[in-house]
Formats: sequence, C-alpha cells, structure tokens
Amino acid sequence: MKGIIFTEFLDMVEAQYGLAVVDEIITNSKTLHHGAYTSVGTYDFNEMVSLLVALGEVVSKDIQDLLYTFGLYLFKSLDEAHPEIVRNYTSPMPLIAAIEDHIHVHVKKLYPDADLPSFLVLEKSKNKLILVYRSTRGLYSLAHGLIVSAFSHYGQEVHVSFDLLETDGTKVKFIVETHV
Ligand code: HEM
Repeated sequence: MKGIIFTEFLDMVEAQYGLAVVDEIITNSKTLHHGAYTSVGTYDFNEMVSLLVALGEVVSKDIQDLLYTFGLYLFKSLDEAHPEIVRNYTSPMPLIAAIEDHIHVHVKKLYPDADLPSFLVLEKSKNKLILVYRSTRGLYSLAHGLIVSAFSHYGQEVHVSFDLLETDGTKVKFIVETHV
C-alpha cells in the first residue's frame, strides 16, 4: 500500500484525535515502520490494518466507520497531491464513472507499484451510477467515503447505498444517486 495513504491516515488521526492518539496507536500496533512513512514509499497493507485496529480500540469506533471517515478526509488529500487528475472533471458523476478507466490508470503511471481496486460500471445515466468495487483488501467503506467526499468537493448532494456481494467486502455494489 502506498505511503500517501499512511501519511494521510496519520494526519487525519492527528487532526481528529490529537498527537497523543497518533503516538498511542503507533505504539500499540507494533508496526515495522513505527509511524515513519514517506508518501512515495510502499508498505505492507497489514501495517495499515494494524493501525486501524489500534485506532478502533483507542477511540472505541468500528473499523468500517473509521474507514468511511478516512475516505471523506482522503479525497481532499488526493486532490491536493494530484490536482492535475481531479481537475479534468467539472462535476462528480463523470469522475466516479472514470475511476477505473482514467483516474486509477493515471495513478498507476505515477505509482507503478500501487495496488488498486477495480470499479466496474454496471449502469450509467445523468443522475444514477451503479458500480461494483472489487479488491482483495475489502476497503469498501474507504471507497464509500471517497465517493461522498468527491460530491461535496463539487458542492453536490448525493445518496450512496451499497450491497455486499461478498460478506468480506471484497466485492461490493454501489448505487450512487444525485438530483442535479
Ligand atoms: C472518488 C474517487 C475514488 C475512489 C472511490 C477511489 C477508491 C480507492 C480505494 C477504495 C482505494 C484503496 C485500495 C483498495 O481498495 O484496494 C484506492 C487507492 C488509491 N487511490 Fe483511489 N479512489 C478515488 C480517486 C482517486 C484519486 C482522485 C486519486 C489520485 C489523484 C487516487 C489515488 C489512489 C492511490 C494513490 C491509492 C493507493 C494505492 C496503493 O496503496 O497501492 N484515487 N482508491
């Protein structure tokens, strides 16, 4: 998993819970890199899982809730790190529809060792998009937060529902609806 995900995760924890909680989860998770990540580095996904589990224990929150909140935070970070990607879109629906064929393709050029999910578009119209998220990492709640955050980035309201096609969250159908 790319370092930018780790650095942004720890920044979010610091912003929401303070530096003491950052230190506590780094100590509790006993991860190899002890919180020292660089945005271009690549680290074991299990290290992120350990940090998430440790945060869940410290702040008494469900892992899916934490991933969703992190997704809300992460969209802004990705936009700031790579404005040239997000600025190709003037509204959110086309952006979400293009994750698979454009956005993550671009990401793979920037970070050749990135482990990206797939987003298959099943149905697309002006106000509704149905897509299937697939990833062995099962980070569907992160995807959910990123989608919602992409809409707020453009000042649009959205309703997102999802259906776990695999109980472990490795295959999830999203229904994204707007009224614009
Ligand atoms: C709302 C739109 C987006 C959604 C729903 C989305 C979804 C995701 C998800 C769920 C992951 C976690 C990996 C996994 O699930 O297997 C991920 C990874 C990633 N995405 Fe996206 N993404 C979006 C937009 C973007 C944009 C705009 C960028 C960059 C400008 C980006 C860059 C990345 C990077 C760098 C990773 C980490 C890959 C790794 O750790 O190896 N994504 N994306």
